[in-house]
Amino acid sequence: MAMAIQPGTSIAAVQAGLPLDPLENRILLCHATGLTRVQLITQGDRPLTPDEAARLDDLVARRLRGEPIAYIVGRREFFGLDFQVGPAVLIPRPDTELIVELALERLPQDRLPQNTPRLLDMGTGSGAIAVAVAHTRPDTAVTALDVSPDALAVAQANAAANGARVRFLHSSWFDALAAGEMFDVIASNPPYIAAGDDHLAQGDLRFEPVGALTDHADGLSALRTIIAGSPRHLVPGGWLLLEHGYDQAEAVRALLADAGYTEVQSWCDLAGIERVSGGRFAH
Ligand SMILES: C[S@@+](CC[C@H](N)C(=O)[O-])C[C@H]1O[C@@H](n2cnc3c(N)ncnc32)[C@H](O)[C@@H]1O
Repeated sequence: MAMAIQPGTSIAAVQAGLPLDPLENRILLCHATGLTRVQLITQGDRPLTPDEAARLDDLVARRLRGEPIAYIVGRREFFGLDFQVGPAVLIPRPDTELIVELALERLPQDRLPQNTPRLLDMGTGSGAIAVAVAHTRPDTAVTALDVSPDALAVAQANAAANGARVRFLHSSWFDALAAGEMFDVIASNPPYIAAGDDHLAQGDLRFEPVGALTDHADGLSALRTIIAGSPRHLVPGGWLLLEHGYDQAEAVRALLADAGYTEVQSWCDLAGIERVSGGRFAH
């Protein structure tokens, strides 16, 4: 879908003529030119160079093919922090800030050196949950794991760029954890879309790693595995927090209750949808 943006056209004229919404026009123009938002305005009369025009043409074509803007620019803001993203990782969603807030509220608050809080993020992807917690509560020993080595490389870069201390493990769920390794909070946003769900073929999801989206089963299989395995790694009274699909809260609460968790409940996201469910394990 070639646009053929003409070099020599002023930045302001190009911005007004791009076929995307105004926010996306601005983001892609900034990315193509290296200018800030303010410079786009103050340099509005400056003509685009041939290199800038070619770059912008390519970026706009990718967006028109449906590629998420976060992959095109390689970045996404989450919990006030800047994250590198790419095709190896799910793009962190604003809804996932809820599980970060719930986890932070449930970490021990006394901040005594002998009581180092411990949090485990299972299926860390870009590192969103782990890095946000470690950045906000640097006294917490944060462990993050993922089955995808490529995702772990992105998460490691994000921890370093945000000055967050996180221990990363290459692991399929609990496999690489030592027996007896205990956490105050286990948080996870696992793949929860059922195999064959129409959403997998729509919008941004078409570009995201399939192993981050679907469990290739009924949508609950990763959630079941995490619910079954967490009691062996939770301190007495520790919390398991699980992000899940818009229609899975009741099923997840039932799985938690059947497995012996207490204080089982769900919390709503910004759209009022039950998005996170969790409970404590008393032992
Ligand atoms: C929905 S994404 C969540 C990414 C990130 N935590 C977030 O909230 O943006 C699920 C993640 O789980 C990982 N995953 C899938 N199967 C796994 C397994 N068996 N063990 C560990 N991680 C797994 C995927 O690679 C992916 O990074």
